[in-house]
Amino acid sequence: MSKAVDKIKEPIAPHMEAFERKFKDSMKSSVPLLDKITTYIVKRKGKQIRPMFVFLSAQSVGEINESSYRAASLIELLHTATLVHDDVVDDSNERRGFFSVNALWKNKIAVLIGDFLLSKGLLLSLDNDDFHLLKIVSNAVKEMSEGELLQIEKARRLDISEEVYFDIITKKTATLIAACCAAGAASVTSDQKIIAMFKEFGTLTGIAFQIKDDLFDFGSDEGIGKPTGIDIKEKKMTLPLIYALNNSSWAEKRRIISIIKNHNEESEEVRKVIDFVIAKKGIEYAQQVMTDYKNRAIALLHQLPESPARKSLEDLINYAINRNL
Ligand code: IPE
Ligand code: IPE
Ligand code: MG
Ligand code: MG
Repeated sequence: MSKAVDKIKEPIAPHMEAFERKFKDSMKSSVPLLDKITTYIVKRKGKQIRPMFVFLSAQSVGEINESSYRAASLIELLHTATLVHDDVVDDSNERRGFFSVNALWKNKIAVLIGDFLLSKGLLLSLDNDDFHLLKIVSNAVKEMSEGELLQIEKARRLDISEEVYFDIITKKTATLIAACCAAGAASVTSDQKIIAMFKEFGTLTGIAFQIKDDLFDFGSDEGIGKPTGIDIKEKKMTLPLIYALNNSSWAEKRRIISIIKNHNEESEEVRKVIDFVIAKKGIEYAQQVMTDYKNRAIALLHQLPESPARKSLEDLINYAINRNL
């Protein structure tokens, strides 16, 4: 991982190390096939920004404790479960620079692995009576499923507005990041005002984070560890495209929609859509909106007293929108 990330992790470095061991243990199973697949997953760990949000939020208002660890494991388990399912839904064969679970073991097994990880997360909290954390996180899980389904529904009709786009990304991504920050804070304080502030901070950050992810899809970046150009292939309408469509003539709109509807599997045609979005300045627009969300998140953060953890949270959100992975 990069130097920038190491610097962000500095105030919580020992906690992140201990977390990795606990996280690995939390996936254990006596079924050999399950063990083989979870070992494969743990080896290709992601950026782990969600546990970082949990620990940094906790540390900026209190002392990290065992329940902070369980919150981090619970959320990373749920996140991993949704990625395994998401690659089935998106028919994607690459994740974190390697084959996705569905690519190696097929959809049937990927669906069951996702369910297993989800239930392991829930049990981890239940076994420790972490009901307040479960309450925060379970809502996020419900919203993630709703967000992905709303996205599929909209992809079929191709009629999405900015408002619906924000609703989708809030549900599928921002709510879980909000849960990270809220659960992190809730693991060290019972002050509801502080917890609510962290939830709002996480929501704003999560929206910016997903806009960045959607921007990646318009690039041709080889190094991000997952395919690009697949959103249009899956008829996913994201902010740059929505903006471009809203700022074009009826005829242009019709031409682009027709490509997305009927030629979404042909890469030369998908290229035309990408070029259209670039020409209409859809990329710049989305970058601007992303920056606005980031600034709103940072303004909230500045309500907290200054500390190394707060500084790292600020750096982490900047990393989330400037990252190249
Ligand atoms: C990917 O999340 C899914 C989105 C919500 C965009 P991350 O980019 O955090 O994935 P990993 O865990 O680092 O692989
Ligand atoms: C994020 O959306 C979905 C989840 C919340 C799991 P994407 O489908 O854009 O995520 P990537 O690009 O596959 O990581
Ligand atoms: Mg996907
Ligand atoms: Mg994506």
